[in-house]
Amino acid sequence: MNTSVIRVVVVSGSLRAPSRTHGLLQALVEKLQARLSNLDVHWVRIAELCSALSGSLERDTASADLQLHLQAIEQTDLLLVGSPVYRASYTGLFKHLFDLVDHQSLRGVPVVLAATGGSERHALMIDHQLRPLFAFFQAHTLPYGLYASVEAFDQHHLVEPAQFERIERVLDTVSAFFQIPVASAA
Ligand SMILES: Cc1cc2nc3c(=O)[nH]c(=O)nc-3n(C[C@H](O)[C@H](O)[C@H](O)COP(=O)(O)O)c2cc1C
Repeated sequence: MNTSVIRVVVVSGSLRAPSRTHGLLQALVEKLQARLSNLDVHWVRIAELCSALSGSLERDTASADLQLHLQAIEQTDLLLVGSPVYRASYTGLFKHLFDLVDHQSLRGVPVVLAATGGSERHALMIDHQLRPLFAFFQAHTLPYGLYASVEAFDQHHLVEPAQFERIERVLDTVSAFFQIPVASAA
């Protein structure tokens, strides 16, 4: 069983705060923390990095703060990423963040894919847009994605019971990746 600290980086691609995407990822992180105590969680919130990202066209010119976030992504053991659907894809600044990430750093890293949208119609954004992006990085995208539309939220908090059941199935795949017996999960 894996008992060492697991570094987790959570990337929220929303340009807004408060944010439904942040709410979905927060619910995921809370359920993950309920299962595992040995986590070191680092949040990357695009909404707080808009100026830094739009002012950094190259990695070399990234601000010190942005560099720390990029390094955290490159050194993580587990990546949880989410974006609102914008025009049937992830947000432009979410893509720009990953344009600055070293292209070899995520090889084999497990990635949970998540998205929120205005309706159910763009749920396949996860498989048609997010999954190919992380395939480029040769990351290990976990099979279940998390997609929630506006009906799943009260304000920006996830409330729909089916979403929490889905989160548990996603976390089963995370546990399996780290060879943590699912039976020990809370
Ligand atoms: C510029 C823009 C484009 C959008 N395009 C789509 C879209 O193509 N499909 C969709 O389902 N929702 C679309 N939406 C709705 C957002 O995906 C949805 O409201 C999302 O939950 C917002 O997440 P956030 O609160 O984390 O920012 C769009 C919203 C904006 C502002």
